[in-house]
Amino acid sequence: MTTVATMISHSRPAISQEDLQVTADVLRSGQIAQGPWVERFEREMAAFVGVQGGVAVSSGTAALELALRALRIGAGDEVIMPSYVCAAPWLATQRVGAQATLVDIDVNTFNIDPLAARRAITKKTRAIIVPHLFGLPADLTALEGLGIPLIEDCAQTLGVTEQGRLVGTVGRLTVCSFYATKMLCAGEGGMVLSNEETLLEGIKSLREYDGVAALDPSSFNLKLTDLQASLALSQLGRFSAFQERRSFLAAAYRSTLSSKTVVCPSAPPGRTHGYYRFVIRLPHLRSNPDGLIGLISRLEQQGIHCRKPVFRPLHRYLDQSGFPHSDEADRTALSIPLYPDLTDDEVQQIQQSLVQVLS
Ligand SMILES: Cc1ncc(COP(=O)(O)O)c(C=O)c1O
Repeated sequence: MTTVATMISHSRPAISQEDLQVTADVLRSGQIAQGPWVERFEREMAAFVGVQGGVAVSSGTAALELALRALRIGAGDEVIMPSYVCAAPWLATQRVGAQATLVDIDVNTFNIDPLAARRAITKKTRAIIVPHLFGLPADLTALEGLGIPLIEDCAQTLGVTEQGRLVGTVGRLTVCSFYATKMLCAGEGGMVLSNEETLLEGIKSLREYDGVAALDPSSFNLKLTDLQASLALSQLGRFSAFQERRSFLAAAYRSTLSSKTVVCPSAPPGRTHGYYRFVIRLPHLRSNPDGLIGLISRLEQQGIHCRKPVFRPLHRYLDQSGFPHSDEADRTALSIPLYPDLTDDEVQQIQQSLVQVLS
């Protein structure tokens, strides 16, 4: 039986000596709450994504809530989102009092199906939350054509393009997450980005409760700290190196795994893939509800921690039906470890175990 100490974890933040140095310097400075590092991070992140400005907040979920509030979305409004995503978009929508309309995904990309989104539009639809899952951009061109404001959710995807446009530059608002295992990490953290100054000003005033002209019951303490911003900024400086390693690892997995029984991730024409996750599909598990769990446990016995990439599609929590592609992803998609500081030895071990378990 493999002990936990020898397990290869599913994800792990890449923390360098520079990261340790910069955060220690901030700690020593005595200025650790929201301050100049947060402002610098907002400027550099906006430049990196390719938009006018950003407002740093405490998490990606908070960023989603503030994006909805900035668009004045609330009771009586509907927000479209895919079912196959974590709970954050649904939670944010609930917190502003709006109704979440779930739609299916395209199982080949794991992203929202623009046709399903179009069918779900009503007179009350005020926004579409567009998560770009696992490092692959959603079909922004088709979604843009629907004429509804887009909120791009870049929690899992940065620095890649759809039809030559960087993700994060197409929606009216874009949200990011800097959770410990995201592409850039701050432990916890988030940001709302936009080209619209008035939206960003509104978000800034909602993120804090003090020093405001009038009390606003929807404002709260949702600030990021300088300590977190300094870590994320230090990571931002290594983004290209991270990306290079991710692409290398993806190619290594692809060379061992491409077969009739395993569908490896790929980018449709006009899109690039950032491989935040390497999510394979195992179509033969389609008719076996417990197959994936059994596979994960066999890999765990070999010392490899793999996961279902989405814990449970939202429609299953909410007892809704009619989401065949989300159901298929839920039964057949497996996320295998891929992160910048995964060692070559670990990659080899993962490849060997996968070949053994999948054959
Ligand atoms: C697509 C997506 N959106 C939003 C979030 C929420 O981000 P956070 O955990 O920082 O609140 C996550 C986090 O996992 C995510 O994957």
